Amino acid sequence: MGRFATGARRSGWIGRLRRRWPPWYILLAVLGFLSLVIVASNRQSPYSGVFTAQARIDALYARQSSTLTQAMSRYSLRNNRAPPPMYSEWYKFARAHSCLIDEYDQISRDFEPFYQLAQDDPAYFKKMVEAGSVKVKKDGNGMKTGVFAGGKFSFTDEQGTLYTSDWPQTFARFESFMPNMSLILNGRDEPRVIFNYRQPDMRLKALNVSDPTPFELSPHPTAAFYKEIQCLIPNRASGFTELANDASAFMLYSSSTQFTTDLYPILSMTKISPCFADILVPSEFYYSDSYWVPRYAYPNNITWTDKTPKLYWRGMSSGGWVYDDNYHAFPRFRVVDIGRNHTDLMDVALSSFHDSLCGEHCDGDAVKAEYNIYGASAPREEVYKYKYSLTSTATRSRGATLASCAAARSSSSTVFAEYFNDWLRPYEHYIPVLPDLSDLVEKLEWATTHDAEAHAIQQAGQAFSERVLTDAQNDCYFSAVFLEWARLQAMADEAL
Ligand SMILES: *[C@@H]1O[C@H](CO)[C@@H](O)[C@H](O)[C@H]1NC(C)=O
Ligand SMILES: *[C@@H]1O[C@H](CO)[C@@H](O)[C@H](O)[C@H]1NC(C)=O
Ligand SMILES: *[C@@H]1O[C@H](CO)[C@@H](O)[C@H](O)[C@H]1NC(C)=O
Ligand SMILES: *[C@@H]1O[C@H](CO)[C@@H](O)[C@H](O)[C@H]1NC(C)=O
Repeated sequence: MGRFATGARRSGWIGRLRRRWPPWYILLAVLGFLSLVIVASNRQSPYSGVFTAQARIDALYARQSSTLTQAMSRYSLRNNRAPPPMYSEWYKFARAHSCLIDEYDQISRDFEPFYQLAQDDPAYFKKMVEAGSVKVKKDGNGMKTGVFAGGKFSFTDEQGTLYTSDWPQTFARFESFMPNMSLILNGRDEPRVIFNYRQPDMRLKALNVSDPTPFELSPHPTAAFYKEIQCLIPNRASGFTELANDASAFMLYSSSTQFTTDLYPILSMTKISPCFADILVPSEFYYSDSYWVPRYAYPNNITWTDKTPKLYWRGMSSGGWVYDDNYHAFPRFRVVDIGRNHTDLMDVALSSFHDSLCGEHCDGDAVKAEYNIYGASAPREEVYKYKYSLTSTATRSRGATLASCAAARSSSSTVFAEYFNDWLRPYEHYIPVLPDLSDLVEKLEWATTHDAEAHAIQQAGQAFSERVLTDAQNDCYFSAVFLEWARLQAMADEAL
């Protein structure tokens, strides 16, 4: 057995890591893909892009259902089933908080396998929650259980996670209309449920629960494992393609694992579809008052025209476990390699080395020397001086966007799903970059030679982030997920 084979060992390591590093780095570490962000100017811009961006968002809200009847009929049309119990209360809440009403196809997709299985066994969902809860209450493994009972949320175990103090505060804002249910919350920003329901015969496999040690599977390195289970990431969405598995730190050697191969319902912040079947919810990271949101010392006060037309990026050497020379393929290292050849377009550097991700087959000093990693960190506000930045998740770009920077991200959005993936559009809100970064220089050249276009994308990303990706929208999403969860769980009792 390898050194990562046991859950206890991993939990300890994760605990140590999380105490040591600010968690937005961990999120970046986990996702491993990078994307291009255009850094914004202030909002009083002479460009027309900002008006277009606002008008598009106005149009988005204008096409949402405006009555409960309309919302219910659209729900039925999109889901082929009636809305769940307490939907009318959810609708009131969503209207009162200016949330989107109809745009929750991600929730439909995440729950669809469970609704299908309920036709075979109405008690399936509840049994899986109960079995998963037993495991989590005993071992934790980065997860936590809780209940809504009589309109109050409470935890039902003592397990520690990153978000133990955040979740109850969030849920309190809508607990009054939550049906009774028991939840399993994944506190790690990595998915846990390796179950590709797109593969043949998986419906039968789901019913035949067979993982003897759920949430313990920790392959290492992970590269061969993902290929063996056919968890394959294409580098391009169309045409001839090649795999991007070997261009992803997460795929090469995931920094945290502990997977299950059965279809447990687990609430997670991110996943790769369709290899992972976790149910997506917002990360506490997305709340503006969260401890985890990157803080800027002062607002972005540099106008677009005064910014340097270069890509600026600083980050740590995270992404996955360094093992032999696999780090050369990690996007964070590759972006530095690319930057060395394109100093006219890029100002990029690794600011620190992640010793916690350097174990066997890793010579930390050699890596530091090769990439000039001296631990010198620049103030976060430095990013204001540049037009473009890189991000690995929209989370990160949201943090930047709220500080008046704007989003343009990579096709990582098609790889790592987050709950708002359907809403952000490439070329409108961000500039996509291939997972292997082979088009990064071309994309930067385009941006520098099409300044008004790039600025318009920046403004659209910023406007979207400020107006749509709000705290209230996170609450609306969470509560919409919980209503589906509660209905599936109640099906066991209704079938009796
Ligand atoms: C929900 O839980 C509360 C508290 O345990 C209980 O009093 C109530 O009867 C439950 N409601 C339903 C519909 O089961
Ligand atoms: C259920 O799973 C076990 C273990 O993987 C396997 O041996 C068995 O054949 C499966 N049964 C069915 C009906 O698929
Ligand atoms: C932006 O604000 C900071 C902090 O108040 C200040 O030090 C800096 O000079 C300002 N920059 C510009 C361009 O106004
Ligand atoms: C940088 O340029 C050198 C010399 O042309 C080339 O060998 C190397 O592959 C380039 N590196 C990257 C990452 O493009």
